[in-house]
Amino acid sequence: MAATPHNLVALYPGTFDPLTYGHLDLIERGVRVVDRLIVAVLRNEQKSPLFSVEERMEMLAEATRKYDSVEIECFDGLLVDFARRKQATVILRGIRAISDYEYELQMALMNRRLAPSIETMFMMAGEAYSFISSRLVKEVFGLGGEIAGLVPPGVEARLRQRLPPGP
Ligand code: PNS
Repeated sequence: MAATPHNLVALYPGTFDPLTYGHLDLIERGVRVVDRLIVAVLRNEQKSPLFSVEERMEMLAEATRKYDSVEIECFDGLLVDFARRKQATVILRGIRAISDYEYELQMALMNRRLAPSIETMFMMAGEAYSFISSRLVKEVFGLGGEIAGLVPPGVEARLRQRLPPGP
C-alpha cells in the first residue's frame, strides 16, 4: 500500500526557561516523525521567567540549528489558537515520569475540547533525561551545583552571566 502523502506540522510548546537536554531530546524525537516542528515559546511574563522570550528563543535557535525542519516561534494567548494560525494539527509534549501524566492529560483534554481537530502527541523523554527540569537546573545552578550535561553549553554560559555564582 502506498504511503499517504502528508505534511505533518507539529507544535512543541513550552516555557523553555531555559532549554535543557530533555527538551532537545524531545525535539530530536519529534523531528523524526513530523515534517515541520514549530517550537513555540510561551511569553509568560506572569511566571516571571529568568530569561526573556527573546533569549529563550535564541538559545533554542542555537541548539536546533542543525535541524532544517525546526522553527522557533513565540506565542501568547491560547495554544490552540496559535496552532490553528500555524496550521499545526499536532501538539507535541514530553512525558518524563508518571507524575507528569495528570497535568498533561488535563491540558490535552482541555485543548481537545477547545480544538477537537488538533491531536496531542506524547513522547517519552529518554530515560537519561527523565529527571531534568528547567526549574531544578536553575535551582541547582543557583546553589553552586554542577549542571554540565543537563543543558547545552550555550545555555550554561548564559546562566553563568545571569545568576550569581552559588556558594
Ligand atoms: O513548559 P511548560 O511550562 O510545561 O508549558 C506549558 C504550556 C506552555 C504548554 C501551557 O502553559 C500552555 O499551553 N499555555 C498557553 C495558554 C493555554 O493555551 N492554556 C490552556 C492550556 S489547556
